[in-house]
This record gives sequence, C-alpha cells and structure tokens, in this order.
Amino acid sequence: MSKAMSREESGQQSAEQLCILCVDDEENVLKSLKYLFHSEPFQVLTASSGHEGLAILQSRHNIGLILSDQRMPDMSGTTFLQKAAMLAPDIPRMILTAYMDVTAAIDAMNKGGAYRFMLKPWDEEELLQGVRDGLQRYRLHRNNIRTTEEKLRIRSQEKLTSIGQLAAGVAHEINNPLSYVVSNIRIFSKYFSRLQEYLSLQQELLNRTASPEQLLELAAGEERLDVSLILEDGAELIAESLQGVERVARIVRDLKSFTRVDAPEYELVDITSCLESALTLVSNELRAVATVRKEYHDLPEVFCHPGQLNLVFMNLLINAGHAVTPPGRITLTCRHDDCFVYVAVSDDGSGVPPELSERIFEPFFTTREVGKGTGLGLSISSDIVVKHGGELQLSSTVGNGATFTVKLPRTQETP
Ligand SMILES: Nc1ncnc2c1ncn2[C@@H]1O[C@H](COP(=O)(O)OP(=O)(O)OP(=O)(O)O)[C@@H](O)[C@H]1O
Ligand SMILES: [Mg+2]
Repeated sequence: MSKAMSREESGQQSAEQLCILCVDDEENVLKSLKYLFHSEPFQVLTASSGHEGLAILQSRHNIGLILSDQRMPDMSGTTFLQKAAMLAPDIPRMILTAYMDVTAAIDAMNKGGAYRFMLKPWDEEELLQGVRDGLQRYRLHRNNIRTTEEKLRIRSQEKLTSIGQLAAGVAHEINNPLSYVVSNIRIFSKYFSRLQEYLSLQQELLNRTASPEQLLELAAGEERLDVSLILEDGAELIAESLQGVERVARIVRDLKSFTRVDAPEYELVDITSCLESALTLVSNELRAVATVRKEYHDLPEVFCHPGQLNLVFMNLLINAGHAVTPPGRITLTCRHDDCFVYVAVSDDGSGVPPELSERIFEPFFTTREVGKGTGLGLSISSDIVVKHGGELQLSSTVGNGATFTVKLPRTQETP
C-alpha cells in the first residue's frame, strides 16, 4: 500500500483536493498523463495494474475520477472498472483506449459503467475537458449526498434530543413513587427491628410470669402461625426489597444523566462513574452475550459534559456487545498519564478489517442489517470526544477483537 501511496504526484491542489486515479500498464502513458494534469489543479495517483489501482482505491477517500486503460496484463479495463464500481460506485470512471479496442471499450462502458471513453493517442484539450466534467460530476454528487446526510444528521440529533426528553419524563415519573417506596421500606425496616425487640421482651416476661399451660398454648400458636420463620425471613425480605428499589433508583438516576445531551453543562466529572452509568443501562443487553471485566485505576476528574460522555460509552458498549460471539468478553479499562485520561472498551469479537478502520467513523456507515443500525454511533461519539479536545482511537486485528479508547485531556477548558 505504501508503494501505491508513494506514487502520488501532485499538481496544484483543487479546493476539495480530489485525486484522479490513472491506471495503465505502460509507464510512458502514466508519465504523459501526469505531465498533462500538472498543468491543471489536479492531484494524480498512478497505478501500473488493475490490482494496484484497486489497492489505492481502498486506501484513499479523496479520489474523484478513475481513468483506466483497457488492455492490461493482470485484468482488463472492463474487469478493473467493474471491481472499482463495487468498491466506490459513486466515482466516475473513464476508459482510455487504443483504436483497436473500441468494441471492448464500449463493453467497458456497459459493464464497467464508464461514462466516457477516449482514444489513444488523445487530444489533450478533449481529455482535460473529459476529466473536468468527470470531477464536476463527482463534486455535484458529493454535495448532494452531503446535504442529504446533513439533513439526516439533524433529524437524528432531534430524535436523540426527544428520546432524552422522553427518558427525563419517564425518570421523573418513576422517581416520585420510587422515593416514597424507598423511604417507606427504610422506615418499615426500622419498625420491624423494633417489633422484633419488643417481641423478645414480651417473650422474656411471659417466660417469667406465665403458667406452663399458657406457655404451651403460646408455643403452639407460634408454631401454627410460623412466627419464628416470619421474624427470620421478614428482615431478609425487607433487605432484599430495599436493595431492589435502590437498584431501580440507580437506573433512574443514570437514565436522568443521559437526558439533555445537548445542554451546555460542563463540569468536573469522575469519568469512571460515567462509564458505570452507561454500563448500568446496557448491562441487561450485555449480560446475555458477554462477561464484563473491569480494570479501573483511579482517575483525576475531567472537565466535560457527563451526559454526552455517557452517550459515547453507551455506544461503545453496545457496539462491543454486537461484535462478540457469546459467550464473549468485554474489558473496561480506566487509566491516566500526566496529560490524558484513557477509557478503553475492548472486546474479543470479530475485529475491524484495516480497510474499514476509518470508514466506521463516517456517518451512516454500518455493517449491520438494514434497519438494525443507523451507522451514527461512532460518528456522533467521535464528534463528542473531539469537541472535548480528545480523540476516539481504534486498535484492532481481525479475529482478535477491537479496542476503542476515549482519550481526553486531563485539564479541559470549556470548549
Ligand atoms: N467493537 C466493534 N468490533 C467490530 N466492528 C465494530 C465495532 N464497533 C463498531 N464496529 C463497526 O463499525 C460500524 C459502525 O458503528 P456505529 O456504532 O457507528 O454504527 P452501528 O453500530 O452500525 O449502528 P448504530 O450505532 O447507529 O446503531 C458497525 O456497523 C461495525 O461494522
Ligand atoms: Mg453502534
């Protein structure tokens, strides 16, 4: 790949820095094309075979036009363009061919979707015009996509905000009854221990004053009504109920911290507790597919927006849950050095192939089934982390899982 990159030649750069990918097995043809395009604000990438051309296409995201020869030893121009169309369907493709290949060139237009063919030796002005048209076509197409993407992104932000508001409403509704249930159980727990104390006092007194017949009668009643079991189990039942409602209270509190993700509320935050909040909310989903291991080192507080960071961690945790094959393993690590704090979510799932390692951060990129993922999780998360002056890093080997690390500066001014 580095060989392919090193072959880049640049003329003046266009505003969008779009490149033309020229593929031809004849070094002289590539040289002449580079020379010709130097006169224009075009960047040129060259490849001497179809395979090299495809490798460049996979590694570069700023190619705005493909110009290919028809006769090449490793694959025909038609085959190359067909494969290129699979990798990057939106990039306009042109075929450059000798007189004798015209029938094949027409084939390339039909099968490989070339929008134009040019004959060798070419007319310089005609070729330049063809290239300008192709790049213009691509720019118009990109702008169109960008506008649509922007609209979708705004719509999804709005959706996120309304989900946040809904969550806040639900959390509020649950919180009211929950607070008196918690308080009543606590009071009842105290009442119950006082009742237990009173009953043992009463028992002592009766032991001293009641007749043996009366004591036998009392013992029979106690056995019939299972009083000792009630006293023993009662305390346990109360403790369990208290634990349960306290857990609900925690979920509600975490849910509330997810609300108002758009509000500019920056504060000094314990990032580990953000991660824990996110984990509480998705733990049910994760429990079914993976065990979660925690390697937490004490972190200094970071000046940030907790609601937004919760969202980042939730996205990473959900993605890890999707990536693993049950029973999988997810490891959460919190650590820091002098300048940064690092929160990493690692999984032992499928990993991210190198050719997708940048694309997964693009908005709407998803490999999940249609209708399952919006492809916005990582792009929104990365935006949030960058807005905090940090970075969302990926390290992965296919088959060996992936680690997404949120790297944040230790002292952070309000962005
Ligand atoms: N831990 C991971 N392991 C392997 N691939 C991952 C992992 N996390 C993300 N990906 C890849 O990145 C793609 C984009 O992720 P992203 O979170 O942006 O969107 P999504 O999960 O597909 O959909 P959404 O999050 O919007 O529901 C995923 O479809 C998946 O291919
Ligand atoms: Mg996701």
